[in-house]
Amino acid sequence: MAVMITGGTGQIGSFLCRSLLRQNQQVVVFDAKPNRDNIRDFEKKVTLVEGDIADLQSMVRTIKEHQVDTVYHLAAIVVLESRENPLKSATVNCLGTVNVFEAGRTTGLRRIVYVSSSAVYGRPESYDTSSVSEDDVPRCPNDPYSATKVMNEVFGQHYYTKFGVKTLGLRLAATWGPGRYLGFTGAFNEMVRKLARGEEVTLSPDFSYPMAPLRWIYVEDLGDVFSYAGTVDEVRIKRRLYNVGTRKPFTPVDFVNTLKEVLPGAKINVTWRDTPTESALNVAGPSGLDMDCSRFYEDLGYQGDSNLKQSIQRAVEFERAR
Ligand SMILES: NC(=O)c1ccc[n+]([C@@H]2O[C@H](COP(=O)([O-])OP(=O)(O)OC[C@H]3O[C@@H](n4cnc5c(N)ncnc54)[C@H](O)[C@@H]3O)[C@@H](O)[C@H]2O)c1
Repeated sequence: MAVMITGGTGQIGSFLCRSLLRQNQQVVVFDAKPNRDNIRDFEKKVTLVEGDIADLQSMVRTIKEHQVDTVYHLAAIVVLESRENPLKSATVNCLGTVNVFEAGRTTGLRRIVYVSSSAVYGRPESYDTSSVSEDDVPRCPNDPYSATKVMNEVFGQHYYTKFGVKTLGLRLAATWGPGRYLGFTGAFNEMVRKLARGEEVTLSPDFSYPMAPLRWIYVEDLGDVFSYAGTVDEVRIKRRLYNVGTRKPFTPVDFVNTLKEVLPGAKINVTWRDTPTESALNVAGPSGLDMDCSRFYEDLGYQGDSNLKQSIQRAVEFERAR
């Protein structure tokens, strides 16, 4: 049997590939526009299929041809492109995701692990609490990306309840690390990459609210989180959607201080803000709204956790090796 990753050459997908390969899994990468730079160290060890999740038939064909029993569904149009191209966002994120669930129904997949986002929670003022859990109904902002993620969650639950498709949604606080340098979190990763090269940087205003509770899992560790979710015993799964982030949050201040510890000569310009930026207000974490991720650890028994200093060291080494 094999596993398939949609969007497997993206930032998270490429680290999930590495994690699955370490476990000797047979990996099929299904990606519409493969980013070969992200997978060049292991491209020959996976089966790369150039395919579009909006095309149900080609996905079903790939699943059958390679005897795929588990799909990790990561392919999506992310925040900024979703705003620029809402039609593409609806086609890929909405139709494409329903296609993945439908492929699971018709081929009898063992499990579909799909990714959602903290963006579904929207702005902090929508809640009368400073920390939201899975029981807090998302009040997504008026933004195409988060709306598509809410839709994915509703359909994921529906396919489970109505058809018994074993969907498991991971509502991700976010990730940081190598592999993506554009977009909202991409700006953060670009800063770390520049520091690794010895360049001077300025912390983006989106991450300059010092109280922001970030639960961003370092992307190498996140690969392990996803592969764990794909293999954990079904009896442990108490709900079909979990908030996923680090056990404890860190703040941008912690991050900058730890960066300076790892890279003592680093030149980091920071202007701390009294409030989050308008764009940060749409994303739990940078907005100041915390996300309770304890159930993921308690129910599923995941033991791993990121150590910020070690993660920064690994990120710097990874970027320098490139
Ligand atoms: N990076 C984060 O911090 C973060 C946070 C929350 C949720 N997510 C979600 O995690 C997933 C992966 O994020 P990422 O940061 O790795 O993104 P990414 O942009 O690096 O990777 C996405 C991949 O999907 C592929 N893709 C796009 N459209 C496709 C289609 N129609 N068919 C097949 N493949 C297609 C792209 O070619 C790309 O390789 C996304 O669903 C994203 O919404 C990411």
